[in-house]
Amino acid sequence: MLSLANAFAPGDIFEFDARIRRYLGLAGDARLTFTAEPKIDGVSLSLRYEQGRLVQAATRGDGAVGENVTANARTIPDIPARLADAPDVLEVRGEVYMAHADFAALNARQAENSDKQFANPRNAAAGSLRQLDAGVTAMRPLRFFAYAWGELSEALADTQMGALRRLEGFGFAVNPLTALCDGPDAMLARYAEIEQMRAELGYDIDGVVYKVDDLALQARLGVRSTTPRWAIAHKFPAETAWTRLEAIDIQVGRTGALSPVARLHPVTVGGVVVSNATLHNEDYIEGRDAGGNPIRGGKDIRVGDWVQVLRAGDVIPKVADVDLARRPDDAEPYVFPTTCPDCGSDAIREEGDAVRRCTGGLICPAQAVEKLRHFVSRAAFDIEGLGARQVELLYRDGWIREPADIFTLHERHGPGSPLPLESREGWGEKSANNLFQAIDERRRIPLNRMIFSLGIRHVGEVAAADLARHFGTWDSFVAAVDAAAPAAACQLAADAAEAEERQAAAREARRARIKPARDAAREGLLPEARAARDELTGINGIGATVAVALATAFRQAAERASIDRLVTHLEILPDESPKAADSPVAGKTLVFTGTLERMTRAEAKARAEALGARVSGSVSAKTDLVIAGPGAGSKEKRARELGVEIIDEDGWFDLIGSP
Ligand code: IVH
Repeated sequence: MLSLANAFAPGDIFEFDARIRRYLGLAGDARLTFTAEPKIDGVSLSLRYEQGRLVQAATRGDGAVGENVTANARTIPDIPARLADAPDVLEVRGEVYMAHADFAALNARQAENSDKQFANPRNAAAGSLRQLDAGVTAMRPLRFFAYAWGELSEALADTQMGALRRLEGFGFAVNPLTALCDGPDAMLARYAEIEQMRAELGYDIDGVVYKVDDLALQARLGVRSTTPRWAIAHKFPAETAWTRLEAIDIQVGRTGALSPVARLHPVTVGGVVVSNATLHNEDYIEGRDAGGNPIRGGKDIRVGDWVQVLRAGDVIPKVADVDLARRPDDAEPYVFPTTCPDCGSDAIREEGDAVRRCTGGLICPAQAVEKLRHFVSRAAFDIEGLGARQVELLYRDGWIREPADIFTLHERHGPGSPLPLESREGWGEKSANNLFQAIDERRRIPLNRMIFSLGIRHVGEVAAADLARHFGTWDSFVAAVDAAAPAAACQLAADAAEAEERQAAAREARRARIKPARDAAREGLLPEARAARDELTGINGIGATVAVALATAFRQAAERASIDRLVTHLEILPDESPKAADSPVAGKTLVFTGTLERMTRAEAKARAEALGARVSGSVSAKTDLVIAGPGAGSKEKRARELGVEIIDEDGWFDLIGSP
């Protein structure tokens, strides 16, 4: 399931329209129509119908693998169990939400029964949908709006609006405020109208979603890694409130980053009580941005200040402004710590990094706990019964110090052992056994999850999936990272020398001394290491930053030993996602030149890359294929000289097999 890119200012909407026109090669005055509909603040749900019967309902999960909530979805009145005259396969996407009145009544009922209160309708909807007992879900007043679709055995319509009408015809609720707009001015006008109606709707919305209406154009525009090019979410402005800043705490993250957190006198911001907010980093507190320029007119933030808190949808609240008129006389400038508040190691800021980091690595309890929390998180190992809180408690007592320990927990603390898990507070025989079983189920783990779970800097879900797809197996992934390690070290040395060189730019003499060091670091690279690095950075989406982060993590002895221990307990499943390698241009280097008539340059490049090709701007001996349109000049000539294959635009479409 995809998500949406966000827009905030009117300019972003004009840019969205212009970007689409550029991509498609549409003139500024050609007609381009969009749908505009409320962005429902609920939980997204995908419903799969086969032969008109609801066979599966899944939440978004990590985007690729959702949570199966079929029994629960069947209890929602807005979701038809059967569809008449529907395509054989139809996946309907939409949002489960709870109306304000139903939410208030639910919380009142919960209070009567001394059950927990939900903070807002979205949490109530999410909690209700994910109930283990569908009987409980049935008692919760959930609703559903359909707004998109996934797999289809036949097209629903030619337009977005037409498709929504079809969904409506099948019995789904479609948001009645959905309208067609001919361009940015009309979209902004509709946005203003929907914002006006927001308070009276009776359910939460957090913006307006615009989608290209013509489905053939949607197909040409396609998707980036996680968001479609043909849609955007125009968010409502953040809600704000003023309150007192009571303290600034420092949290240490998984990669050692020291993050300042504002502890606030609790205040209601747009219906939600906020007592913590982010302060970003030390420059932000001091009133400067990453480039050293003043923000908030250069005002710093101090404990005791009156501060403005901003909250936009589900984003973490932040401290946005400070009221100097109300600053207490004794308020002191905040001094950012230079040692880790958790382990006492030095906390340093590297040149060009906005963040100060603890250098303690795995000896830092805060980093170790955060790494474990990441390891058990939903997109990583996702072990049922072992959430962030449990893993932290087990860490504090020394039962689990690193991921590998999770897989020996049964041996060490199973029934009959001197200190059985079931004897711990909060655990019983059943829950302990369930946990051991859940852990066993994760001894087989897909490669992408394994890579993501290591919690290496810059390696998020998308990069992990790219790496898994490229290398296929754990062994070839590790071999490639190991082979690239010397290159990464050289890169670091070269970066460091270069940073120094920059600082010393004025001093010619020093430069003369440092330049050879940098060149030596670069030249010193063995060809094999260079090739290994190039393999890593050649993967679509993987840049030098990720390559260096990976190689650095794998070279670090303690970290590597911990990974190696973990691997002994696991069967890491090879990646089975469809490979672009099957396409005729996979792995080839292409050059587009001349005028393309059936697609723009951007579209051609995105298509080729999606098929696993590399697109270059210049022709060289490494070029495999040149696609030349009318007016191609020097590049086509050069290709002829080099004997590189040249085809025209029609030949390109014949090759990749589509119109
Ligand atoms: S379209 C490819 N339409 O917003 C299209 N999404 O921030 C994907 N959402 O994950 C979504 N109202 O859960 C779409 N009218 C609407 C929506 C909507 C709410 C949610 C959806 C999505 C998230 C992205």
